[in-house]
Amino acid sequence: MKRMVSGIKPTGKLTLGNYIGAISQFIQYQDEYEMFIFIANQHAITVAQDAKELRQNTKNLIALYLACGLDPKKVTMFLQSDVPAHTTLGWVMTCNSYIGELNRMTQFKDKSAKGEVNLTAGLYTYPSLMAADILLYDADYVPVGVDQKQHVELARNLAERFNNRYSPTFVVPTPLTPKIGAKIYSLQNPLKKMSKSEEDPKGTIALLDEPAVARKKIMSAVTDSFACIAYDPQKQPGLSNLIQILSCLSQEPIEEIVKRYEGKGYGELKKEVGDTVYTFLEQLQARYRAIMDSNIIEDILKEGAQKASLIANKKVAKVHRKVGLSLF
Ligand code: TYM
Repeated sequence: MKRMVSGIKPTGKLTLGNYIGAISQFIQYQDEYEMFIFIANQHAITVAQDAKELRQNTKNLIALYLACGLDPKKVTMFLQSDVPAHTTLGWVMTCNSYIGELNRMTQFKDKSAKGEVNLTAGLYTYPSLMAADILLYDADYVPVGVDQKQHVELARNLAERFNNRYSPTFVVPTPLTPKIGAKIYSLQNPLKKMSKSEEDPKGTIALLDEPAVARKKIMSAVTDSFACIAYDPQKQPGLSNLIQILSCLSQEPIEEIVKRYEGKGYGELKKEVGDTVYTFLEQLQARYRAIMDSNIIEDILKEGAQKASLIANKKVAKVHRKVGLSLF
């Protein structure tokens, strides 16, 4: 059985973009692949976090994974910080990453270009830790949204570099992005990614938004003045974003949606997207509340960390032998 690894940072509020770009892929593949899905909490602290908020976001994220349909019987779910092998291999990966290649990572470049002060060293070396997250498990595939593809490419390069320098040790992973929805855009600025840290909450649908509030956000999404329903992300990015959201949530192909809306107005389409998002969130949140009220999370995380550690520790031991860090 081929293996998949992926993770999400417990920062801010999980969005519809995270669901469509990442979680829906996890669910789609959980029957066919051996999956390791973790909460990237050590990545979260690369920017300052309030401890109480981080704990709450972490709990919310695991409950949302479950509410979205991830099945702990099929998927190994765990907290990154519960498996110390991640940071142990992360250090070896950091020592095999060149400053030049970390400088080219667009997420870091974007943050530094914004002139943010006090960027941490952790934020800079984060892609090396992400490579460790993936390589520890010999992942064949890494399901992610488009914004994480470059980081997975670095993991590929690091795997190849290590394999060539020492001997074959790591599987070289392939990023998997969904055909539709690999990048969901802000509803207010359809040229910008919908993001957990979105300053403008009207542009972002959080999975824990009140369904009625989410519907309103869809109704006031920025579109265009062509007055013609077509799927053309270049020319009509706002409208195409809404069509993508509808297609992903309803599983109806884009061409069929466009055909159905021939000659109709944007208001009608927005209403359907809004209603679909409303129902999706309502059902998701009912499951989420039941999970939060239960006490299953702790056991799932404990079992997941044990299973993950077994594999991850073996890989670290192998790496330490090859590098010359362990004596026996
Ligand atoms: P993070 O937490 O920023 O995002 C989690 C996942 O959601 C996807 N995503 C989106 N997809 C479509 N449209 C959007 N608007 C959108 N916004 C986010 C991301 O591409 C990602 O798949 N570094 C990672 C976490 C990580 C990881 C890993 C992932 C750490 N180690 C190992 C895979 C494998 C991150 O910050 O994702």
